Amino acid sequence: MLDQKAHKPHERLAAHLRDDLNAVDAMIRTRMASAHAPRIPEVTAHLVEAGGKRLRPMLTLAAARMCGYEGDKHVILATAIEFIHTATLLHDDVVDESAQRRGRPTANLLWDNKSSVLVGDYLLARAFQLMTDTESLRILAVLSNASATITEGEVLQLTAAQDIGTTEEIYFKVVRGKTAALFSAATEAAGILAGVSEEQVEALYDYGDALGIAFQVVDDLLDFWGGEATGKNVGDDFRDRKMTLPIIKAIAAADAEERAFWKRTMEKADQRDGDLERALEIMDRHGALEETRQAALGWADKAKAALTSLPEDPIRDMLHDIADYVVERIS
Ligand code: IPE
Ligand code: IPE
Ligand code: MG
Ligand code: MG
Repeated sequence: MLDQKAHKPHERLAAHLRDDLNAVDAMIRTRMASAHAPRIPEVTAHLVEAGGKRLRPMLTLAAARMCGYEGDKHVILATAIEFIHTATLLHDDVVDESAQRRGRPTANLLWDNKSSVLVGDYLLARAFQLMTDTESLRILAVLSNASATITEGEVLQLTAAQDIGTTEEIYFKVVRGKTAALFSAATEAAGILAGVSEEQVEALYDYGDALGIAFQVVDDLLDFWGGEATGKNVGDDFRDRKMTLPIIKAIAAADAEERAFWKRTMEKADQRDGDLERALEIMDRHGALEETRQAALGWADKAKAALTSLPEDPIRDMLHDIADYVVERIS
């Protein structure tokens, strides 16, 4: 189902947080500078100016404001979160050998892998500087744990790829690491900054965690069915032989002939013209698309349930709608 509303929930939230988001964008620009290596702002500007939804910093700003935070450190925190995200995108596109990101050629394609890896490292280091600027050791702990967990997720995915025995349990471990860890850190750290109760910090973590999982499950669907709107290449996961949820579900329902197809394309890397279309057709026939969508809806429901113990506020309603939006989104 496509979102046909004129104002999508994340746009409404962005409008509500406009001043804070502008401050984040200004801080991104200042902090991505490098006096010594012009390649750094070149590569970073290429990605930053392509936009991106700024979903994670928005979650931080929203959670902080919803929890009554009135200072200005949430801007620092949100910038650190977006820097971690940007660094992981640079690294991820090298690892996945991707050619398109945010509707533009990737940095690894325009420059090279070396620049992407090093500029990613630089941005991660910049993120750590920003974290110390929050003057909270606990926030530093949350964000540094998240950074380690993201990498664990990416490495686990590397070793699970090309193995048609990959279970849903392993898949969700990967997703919780590579994607949900940053979402949950974004909301949890905002709660810590605002000084809310431990119970509410936990609820913020749970919201980010479930939202992040829903988001990645949908991203994996969009990799097959998203088309141009995603700003990324369709079929990348299949070509990379990544065991994402639609494929895992289709393999669980496969007959002998289909199993041979998955073994050939995913394990033996023998992919021929028309295989992507065949994979889509098989997944569709077994209802793997719909089942994956249902799984995403389940995680979105968990995210919404976590909101109930958080302060009643218009922002809380928008975060509720964002959980629906991540499942309905087409980009
Ligand atoms: C891309 O995240 C990486 C994933 C976790 C799938 P987004 O889709 O939030 O990327 P941008 O920042 O909007 O480009
Ligand atoms: C997203 O990984 C998570 C990170 C970037 C760490 P993917 O490889 O699934 O995301 P896309 O599809 O390239 O955005
Ligand atoms: Mg990728
Ligand atoms: Mg990847």
